[in-house]
Amino acid sequence: MYRTHTCGELRIENAGQTVTLAGWVQKSRKLGGMTFVDLRDRYGITQLVVDASADNELIETASSLGREWVLQVTGTVIERQSKNPKMPTGDIEISLSSIKVLNRANTPPFTIEDVSDGGEELRAKYRYLDLRRNPLQKAIKLRHQIAHEVRNYLDAKSFLEIETPYLIKSTPEGARDFVVPSRMNPGQFYALPQSPQTFKQLLMVAGYDRYFQIVRCFRDEDLRADRQPEFTQIDCEMSFVDQEDVLDTFEGMMKTLFKNVLNVEIAGRIPRMSWYDAMDFYGSDKPDIRFGMKIHEVTDLVQGHGFSVFDSVGYVGAINVEGAAEYTRKQIDELTEWVKRPQVGAKGLVYIKLNTDGSIKSSVDKFYTPEQLQAVADRLGANKGDMMLVLCGEKRKAQNMLGVLRIEMGNRLGLRDPFNFAPLWVVDFPLFEWDDETQRFYAMHHPFTAPKPEHLELYYSDKKEDLEKVCANAYDFVLNGTELGGGSIRIHEAEMQQRMFEILGISKEDAEYKFGFIINAFKFGAPPHGGLAFGFDRVCSLFGGQETIRDYIAFPKNNQGRDVMIDSPSYIDQLQMDELFLESKAERKEE
Ligand code: AMO
Repeated sequence: MYRTHTCGELRIENAGQTVTLAGWVQKSRKLGGMTFVDLRDRYGITQLVVDASADNELIETASSLGREWVLQVTGTVIERQSKNPKMPTGDIEISLSSIKVLNRANTPPFTIEDVSDGGEELRAKYRYLDLRRNPLQKAIKLRHQIAHEVRNYLDAKSFLEIETPYLIKSTPEGARDFVVPSRMNPGQFYALPQSPQTFKQLLMVAGYDRYFQIVRCFRDEDLRADRQPEFTQIDCEMSFVDQEDVLDTFEGMMKTLFKNVLNVEIAGRIPRMSWYDAMDFYGSDKPDIRFGMKIHEVTDLVQGHGFSVFDSVGYVGAINVEGAAEYTRKQIDELTEWVKRPQVGAKGLVYIKLNTDGSIKSSVDKFYTPEQLQAVADRLGANKGDMMLVLCGEKRKAQNMLGVLRIEMGNRLGLRDPFNFAPLWVVDFPLFEWDDETQRFYAMHHPFTAPKPEHLELYYSDKKEDLEKVCANAYDFVLNGTELGGGSIRIHEAEMQQRMFEILGISKEDAEYKFGFIINAFKFGAPPHGGLAFGFDRVCSLFGGQETIRDYIAFPKNNQGRDVMIDSPSYIDQLQMDELFLESKAERKEE
């Protein structure tokens, strides 16, 4: 046996026992004639001591140890002279009788402590060292625990975990595919799944009734804090269900996760909001409902008073920021610059302050009487001491900008405590989204999502304005302003699926080529079915109180989609290219 205990295990009750530990040297220091070593493993840190009375060889070995050396040590557990109440093992130390150096280590390029001195790039290059740090170990452990709870919950509900292939044909989730050339089929490519969407539906046709999989998905899209090119979904599908059954099942799953992993009780039903309300009042399809500051339309109140900026647009909206009337000129100027950044895209910002002395001050005082501004305040429920921020433009664009501003003000006012959890279902999504640039409809969720039964007539209409009104039985699970999951009730009839491809401008031939297998499967007794997928990495990061998912993935990619540790992607040699019948148009940069 390499060890009798872990480095996180020993307590005062173990005093007097002879033990063997194995682990890494966190640090060592000399004090008087004694050498102290902190030995670390996954479970914790234990202090080792070699005192002046030990034999020379042991003293010599102890004083030669470097950071991150791997040791096996044996000794007696003794009570510490000066205890460390911050460490679980802080009451004891091990008085060593032997040290075996199992491996030496180069000096690590950064400190392996809770807060490291290494920059992001350096830590990514030595990810295996970064992963030794406590915060990352905690994150990876949390991920394991959540996966375990998910499996328990779904297993108890008769879900079967079934794997689906990675080398497949394009799936239409809206991003670009990663593709893999086939050596055995010259000139042909597999696509890596953006999700197992079509396979899980085929499993329903095959009668498997309740499926889940904790599965890797691949999407070639621009990366952000909560987006990786390969990420993991908790992917689920159920037969003979309506929207209510799906929401019930997964509301139950999320509540169980909150309870069992974080000991957080989510009381009552998780609230629901229609997509239209989310857009109108929060300017986002993933509203953060931890705080109010809702968006209100004020177009009717502000137009027709000679202020051409407002008069010339389709929509004017505002938020009320409580207690912000004390914002200085300088702060407002800075905020105005902030909304003008391309990421927000506003042309300017109008403010209306309700000062504590009862006066009203705004940047548009020239055009409005105090009574007219008060009418805006009344609509927003603003009180003395508050400041309203007004933006305008095309309706959805202006709402979106107000939504971004709302989140920013929420951050500035400290209203977004990561450990205050406010989940929400967003429901009643439109089925289609019109794109002006390409002059065509796109599926808001994906092209397997069914229209609401009461909108079938609109679905078969040829008019653009009818199709814009079609709603889907689609739903997103939103937590604290992040989309954690989404799904829908699916189309299960070949004819309705064909119609979907037709509306999306996919020709019959193209649909047959890309999705013939699923249209065909629907002709062999497809049951009504629906499901959803949660972004597993996002669930983990939000449970850990973070917005970036990278620390919750053992080996993530950077923002350029690179793994700098293994240096990938990289060139392949000519022989491999030839075998795959490939020729590269890109100039090969010197490595
Ligand atoms: P959707 O595309 O909404 O649905 O994806 C489901 C969830 O996956 C997460 N997610 C991501 N997480 C990290 N990095 C990414 N690049 C990334 N992209 C998506 C999000 C999202 O809510 N097949 C459908 C599900 C269904 O209809 O059942 C699908 O994939 O948290």
